[in-house]
Amino acid sequence: MPIKHFLQFKDLDTDEINYLFDRARVIKGRFKRYEPYHPLNDRTLVMIFEKASTRTRLSFEAGMHQLGGSAIYLNTRDSQLGRGEPVEDAAQVISRMCDMVMIRTYEQSIIERFAAYSRVPVINGLTNEYHPCQILADVFTFIEHRGSIQGRTVAWIGDSNNMLYTWLQAAELLDFTVHASSPPGYEVDLALAGSSASRLRAFSDPLEAARGADLVTTDVWTSMGFEAQNDERRKAFADWCVDEEMMAAAAPDSLFMHCLPAHRGEEVAAQVIDGPRSVVWEEAENRLHTQKALMEYLLLGRL
Ligand code: CP
Ligand code: NVA
Repeated sequence: MPIKHFLQFKDLDTDEINYLFDRARVIKGRFKRYEPYHPLNDRTLVMIFEKASTRTRLSFEAGMHQLGGSAIYLNTRDSQLGRGEPVEDAAQVISRMCDMVMIRTYEQSIIERFAAYSRVPVINGLTNEYHPCQILADVFTFIEHRGSIQGRTVAWIGDSNNMLYTWLQAAELLDFTVHASSPPGYEVDLALAGSSASRLRAFSDPLEAARGADLVTTDVWTSMGFEAQNDERRKAFADWCVDEEMMAAAAPDSLFMHCLPAHRGEEVAAQVIDGPRSVVWEEAENRLHTQKALMEYLLLGRL
């Protein structure tokens, strides 16, 4: 089988994504019943983190262990990666010693350069541009609660960041619509969105973006790597808080999601994230199950 990477959501086609959801359901069921399942016995995942993480590290490391393999954590502070070793050299060395690599880094171009020189599958664990593993878990969570996402509306309230660009790619593959509202100056870059911009409806008023939506979702005002813009963003985003009024405008059975970590009182009101429509804890848990399905697929193909 040729090497398959997951650097962007659209690296997989609709069929493959639906296959992953089917496998995630099976793998989750086995996990819940405490049934051992070790298809990746003796396989090793290397995880490279250039940014902080709780969920991504934990879900990949625990997931690999539960599949019978092991995971090794590297970061830029205490490996040669932070001391200027070329990405291409690192990729050739690391990929000779393991079966799969997950990377969390800055520009998408870094992970693409790594993948070009890797002998093994590479997974995007978040870049400035995309967060495909998170959206895999988010769509899976939606389907678990509400059935097919086809034809539905997802409201994105806030920054045009890695999460939004990945939602747009998912919308293109899985046939749903994204209503997005961002403050002036923080709107979607249509060039980066590419053909997935066809699934976007942009709103200047966040309340209008939320109106009638099946899912309302948001993320931090300032993503990792953009901390220098914190003060200006705090001012610009003040009206882009998902509150109870916004949830009331959404569809009566709408869900709320947030990739976490969250800031109550900034991008989301405590009453919403801790309220009855929020599925954020299931969403976080599903990182584990969907990524186990992803790793199984990248190493073993269809079973
Ligand atoms: N949502 C997410 O990726 O969380 P971490 O930054 O904790 O990995
Ligand atoms: N958009 C956020 C997501 C964190 C999981 C960031 O990139 O920091």
